[in-house]
Amino acid sequence: MIPVHKKIHPIILIFMNKPVLLRTFVITFAIILFDVSVPAQKSDSLKLAFSDSLKIEALLKKMTIEEKVGQLSLFLSYRSITTGPSQKTDSRELIKEGKAGEIFNAYGVEVVHELQRIAVEESRLKIPLLFGLDVIHGFRTIFPVPLGQACSWDLEAIEKTEHIAATEATADGINWTFAPMVDLARDPEWGRVVEGAGEDTWLACRIAEARVRGFQGNNLKDPHSLMACAKHFAAYGAALAGRDYNTVDMSPLSLYEWYLPSYNSCVKAGVASVMTSFNEINGIPSTCNSWLLSDILRKTWGFKGFVVTDFTAINELVPHGVAVDLKDAARLALNAGVDVDMQGDAYLSSLPELLSEKKITIRQIDDAVRRILLAKFKLGLFDDPYRQCTLEREKKEIMTPEDIAFARKMVSESCVLLKNERKILPIPQSVKSIAIIGPLGDSKKDMLGPWSATGKWEDCVTLAEGVRNHVSSNIVVRYLKGCNVNDNDRSGFDTAVRLAGESDFVILALGESRDMSGEAASRTNIDLPGVQNELSEAILKTGKPSVVVLFNGRPLAVSGLSSRAPAILETWFGGTQAGNGIADVLFGDYNPSGKLTMTFPRNVGQVPIFYNSKNTGRPINPDDTSEKYVSRYIDSPNTPLYPFGYGLSYTSFVYSNLNIKVTGKTINIKATITNSGDRDGEDVVQLYSRQKVGSITRPVKELKGFQKVFLRKGETKDLSFTLTTDDLAFYHPDLKKYFEPGEFVFFVGGNSVETIEKTIDLSH
Ligand code: NOJ
Repeated sequence: MIPVHKKIHPIILIFMNKPVLLRTFVITFAIILFDVSVPAQKSDSLKLAFSDSLKIEALLKKMTIEEKVGQLSLFLSYRSITTGPSQKTDSRELIKEGKAGEIFNAYGVEVVHELQRIAVEESRLKIPLLFGLDVIHGFRTIFPVPLGQACSWDLEAIEKTEHIAATEATADGINWTFAPMVDLARDPEWGRVVEGAGEDTWLACRIAEARVRGFQGNNLKDPHSLMACAKHFAAYGAALAGRDYNTVDMSPLSLYEWYLPSYNSCVKAGVASVMTSFNEINGIPSTCNSWLLSDILRKTWGFKGFVVTDFTAINELVPHGVAVDLKDAARLALNAGVDVDMQGDAYLSSLPELLSEKKITIRQIDDAVRRILLAKFKLGLFDDPYRQCTLEREKKEIMTPEDIAFARKMVSESCVLLKNERKILPIPQSVKSIAIIGPLGDSKKDMLGPWSATGKWEDCVTLAEGVRNHVSSNIVVRYLKGCNVNDNDRSGFDTAVRLAGESDFVILALGESRDMSGEAASRTNIDLPGVQNELSEAILKTGKPSVVVLFNGRPLAVSGLSSRAPAILETWFGGTQAGNGIADVLFGDYNPSGKLTMTFPRNVGQVPIFYNSKNTGRPINPDDTSEKYVSRYIDSPNTPLYPFGYGLSYTSFVYSNLNIKVTGKTINIKATITNSGDRDGEDVVQLYSRQKVGSITRPVKELKGFQKVFLRKGETKDLSFTLTTDDLAFYHPDLKKYFEPGEFVFFVGGNSVETIEKTIDLSH
């Protein structure tokens, strides 16, 4: 019997009015083979077409054990950007022998055609390959790094960046991206915060959904759709002390409440694959964690796609200390629910032997192979293994003028104005000479940021170029490096100071180089590296009107800089159009609207610091922060340098009239926003809630919604948010999520600190 809450599969429907014997046979066959009775994952693209299922079964019957295991093996092509040891390098031979089902880092029409041709013409069963690549923030048109994009709070725009990335990548032969990275992260020491959406679970979920939609579109068969991969499952962002690949030790409650939802959102949005994380959680590495991969991902969430490991993560089960050798590691991974071995050669070298020793079953292997073949059918690879990737398409669809214009807008949207004393920005039109000083001011390579796929540094517009493009030829723009990003060389200081003194306006371009964030780029000091602070001191002493433009992949602890500089614009790494998009903000063509999605600490000792923390039993008294026996530091305030949700505009906004109406389970929250400044502009209106008393402690604030609204100067708008009590539910110690009646405070404002609030009783 099919449980009523589960969707009835089309295969079953077709046979519903057929004679009872035939009907029973088909339904039983469908349930056994295709597991059609488990909850259907959203997205048509994952529905199993009956004819495809028959083809899969027919193929499986023909496959040798080596060919089956081959489908579960992902190898690098010779054109490699690697992040670990390479176990096999000559993929051509493997493909021919049917021993590689997926290839990664092979791109470009010629290369993809060559390798795919070997698979579909020279291998025995002619099964097409999947081509994967880390398309993280653009393929060739590079957009701002994901953390920067998140600061736009523009879900539509984020979805569009992925759609463009998918169009370009598929035109070049890629059909699978190892993205989105949806790891929640609260520790900016961890270099990979740059790839995520920041510290808030609710926002991370919305961004995760947008990214999956953007990559996969409505139908994976569309040759412009790119199969997505939610990663790194799970909780990779909680690596202890922010050190990459480190241990995660976390209560189940925190895992459920904060760290798991963004992966689940990807599953709900129809993500076709999931990547395991390198880390262990509470003693069990994710790559052999059957509770995560089977119980949560497949059984509870109903995930129907396939699971791939991270790079050699099966092999790493040995140094983790849970497997005696590679064979043992392969057994653990398959038993836990891993389908594809990324680059480890663990499956290929061990599964056949494990099978003959009866340590694993053929059913386990067949199920995994079915999932891979299914993905290949969904992508239409059996009909067109090249998915219309042609040189013409490559020319026509990569780096179109529209996409470049959109990338420029995305750069402006991702910028966060952190400080703007005396309205130094936008740069006044009266300025006749501009000095751009600093190691990031004219560095094309750094603009790409980490993980920039096939982005070319030659395509990037630097800040100096962007400023020059922006101003008329009678304005003098001069650039000097002043110092390097990360060494002690001060020899360029004097000339830089002289240049600042001779100019009307100074733009200081400071921050991290692109390789200081991303994978394997954890830092214990998250201030400006090298002698950049000293350079900024020397330049700012000239008293010239100045702005600091920051380039970095993580929140920085720039307290010193922030007290010195009159204006600071956070720009992250903007990608191909970085310089143009930043110049649009600096000169006021775009009024900044970005808001931080990750708290900027005052110093690294405050880390992890995040807005949705708990109150503690001894909260600090905001009116007397010197009180001793309360939860505070003796050498630093508790408050961050810049809080979550924070970002300035060239105009100002005022909030008023917070009203809340409750009808049954529905809560309607209304507020008024006024543009009280002298420019048109956008604000990200944020809605937070706090449950005052719960059966377990609740955070001091939790984001529950937002709206990005545009207002002309002087304009007033009424805003309305609708929640239900389900939106206020939380996980309990029994790991069940439900709403607990009680008193709630609702906050509305332009950041997580400056809000208006109202308390409402939701006990009934
Ligand atoms: C290791 C990284 O952790 C992962 O995010 C990436 O997708 C793979 N390498 C493949 O490049």
